[in-house]
Amino acid sequence: MCGIIGYIGPRTAVPFLLEGLRRMEYRGYDSAGVAVNEGNELVLVKRKGPVEITAAAVIDKELKGTCGIAHTRWATHGKPNQRNAHPHADCSGQIAVVHNGMLANYKAIKEDLERRGHRFRSDTDTEVISHLVEQFRSDGDSLVTAVQKTALLIRESAFAFAVIDSTAPDEIVAARLGSDLFIGLANGGLFVASDTRAFRAHTDKYVYVKDGHVAVIRRDASHQVLTFENEEVLHAVEDLWYELGEIEKGKHPTFMHKEIHEQGEVIRRVLEGRFTEQYAIHIGGIARRPEFQHYITTQLRRVLILGCGTSKFAGLAIARYFEEFGYPSEVIDAAEFATSYRHVTPETLVVPISQSGTTADVLEAMERLLKDSAVTFSLVNVPGSTLSLYGNGVYTRAGLETAVASTKAYTAQILSGCLLTLAIARSAGRVTALDVQEFGEAARRLTEAAEAILKRGPSYEALGSSLAKISRMVFLGRGYTLAAAHEGALKMLEVAYISALEKSAAEMKHGPLALVDKRTVVIAMCLPDPKVPLTYDRTIDNVGQILSRGGRVIAIAEEGDERIAELEYSGTRLERIIRVPATIGPFSAITAVLPLQLLAHGAAAALGRNIDQPRHLAKSVTVK
Ligand code: AGP
Ligand code: GLU
Repeated sequence: MCGIIGYIGPRTAVPFLLEGLRRMEYRGYDSAGVAVNEGNELVLVKRKGPVEITAAAVIDKELKGTCGIAHTRWATHGKPNQRNAHPHADCSGQIAVVHNGMLANYKAIKEDLERRGHRFRSDTDTEVISHLVEQFRSDGDSLVTAVQKTALLIRESAFAFAVIDSTAPDEIVAARLGSDLFIGLANGGLFVASDTRAFRAHTDKYVYVKDGHVAVIRRDASHQVLTFENEEVLHAVEDLWYELGEIEKGKHPTFMHKEIHEQGEVIRRVLEGRFTEQYAIHIGGIARRPEFQHYITTQLRRVLILGCGTSKFAGLAIARYFEEFGYPSEVIDAAEFATSYRHVTPETLVVPISQSGTTADVLEAMERLLKDSAVTFSLVNVPGSTLSLYGNGVYTRAGLETAVASTKAYTAQILSGCLLTLAIARSAGRVTALDVQEFGEAARRLTEAAEAILKRGPSYEALGSSLAKISRMVFLGRGYTLAAAHEGALKMLEVAYISALEKSAAEMKHGPLALVDKRTVVIAMCLPDPKVPLTYDRTIDNVGQILSRGGRVIAIAEEGDERIAELEYSGTRLERIIRVPATIGPFSAITAVLPLQLLAHGAAAALGRNIDQPRHLAKSVTVK
């Protein structure tokens, strides 16, 4: 994914464009660029590297133009360098384009345009857009028509792009298919952007531009939404759901640090209004849909959870919880599903999970599911995002998550997924009001537990810092904590760039035990699943197999667990025990991961990593 922004209005465009890039840099940051209509001549400034490098170059130019576009890139076609940075111009330099997404059929279009005499300067797919618009403009089309015709030509692709033309100085035209695009309506001018954060400081009024639509914003403060086929689209101007403070770091050193520490509040928010007086669970996507209740009681037999990265790992805990109530469940990477032989029939409920709601692998899987007429229920965090428009689902209420490394979204996903599981099991008569009441009480205790763990954050960050030079870590879990092991390893490798494996504790003896040496630290989740006591016992045995080979082990254990403190094999004891409050099975996937998030943050900080924007990554992967 990347960030695109356009501004047109009475004021100088550059400050708005640079602020927008800074707010969207988490979306992709290998290069950036700006194009401003400076007295009916386009001036382009672009640089490799973080936004600030481009910003410095732009400020030096002292551009006064009041219409411009800008881009922060996560490269898919063409190396991350200045030549391939956006904006991309046409042959004459009259037109400039910024684009988020990938153009599937760009090669054929590029060859055709080159045959017509167009000269390309970059290796990107995006540049074909600027030459297509140029071609249609030279045929006499208006800028809007040229953009519509271009969008129709590239419609097998995913894009949100914005165009300015020095000969049409009073408008910016953008088009969207598959990648988010919004219009921002401020008193000081109008915006188009791929993320509302880009203009949130100036307005809370926005328009969500849908697939197949073109957005036109004008200097006279008017705007229009049209289809690619030029039909007028009636649309709502809505209020943004979040405050500006939510997209600021505040007193925290990083967004990741801030979002880790918001998890107590997130748990409260997810639980708000979810338990009715009769101890039923209130989930909008079920309560408002009697046909879904009928489906639960007549057809639903098993569950398939789809997601990527952290969302997939949250799904591991949710799948196990579904299994507790007799629903055979499995978790598949959304990308694997999209290229699998599987076909889903109605007795399988598919639960796609995505924080951003714009992950291309998840959306591609959804397209396959729709062809199978599958029954889906999505867990999505970003309101109005593409995945949230696919049928039934519920928002996970984590609030805006800016750090590329997902943290509070994982916690909100597991809690939301457990509520969904319980609501379904309740509708199917598989749990009683008492079961729901006990869950509710455990959930309310989870807020305090999370806040107690997070209060010890500095000591976990210090431990992480002490591990910064470790060359390899192995995260072990079993049952519910396997989700935490996967997630803890992902955090460590994602922000600290330390090689981290995740394994079922049981798996170690089947090979990974060979990794055990003084350069390897094992982090073992030794938390019980009260309904399956064997989980803890076997994990302790597995830890013993590591200690007896002189392995270095840090354990996560429950407060009050004395057995773990006595572990000692051949003179080797645990290097450290991280204590967390007792909780029910599914929530141990949350209590175990909180220290691991802080461990990763501490190690990354000690190594001087760019924690909020790790190398090569982007917040939402909108390419397949
Ligand atoms: C997690 O820290 C990563 N940023 C990444 O694995 C992420 O979870 C994955 O790309 C899925 O994103 P989504 O939840 O927005 O679909
Ligand atoms: N595919 C385009 C490129 O590689 C856009 C990538 C992005 O969304 O940043 O430049």
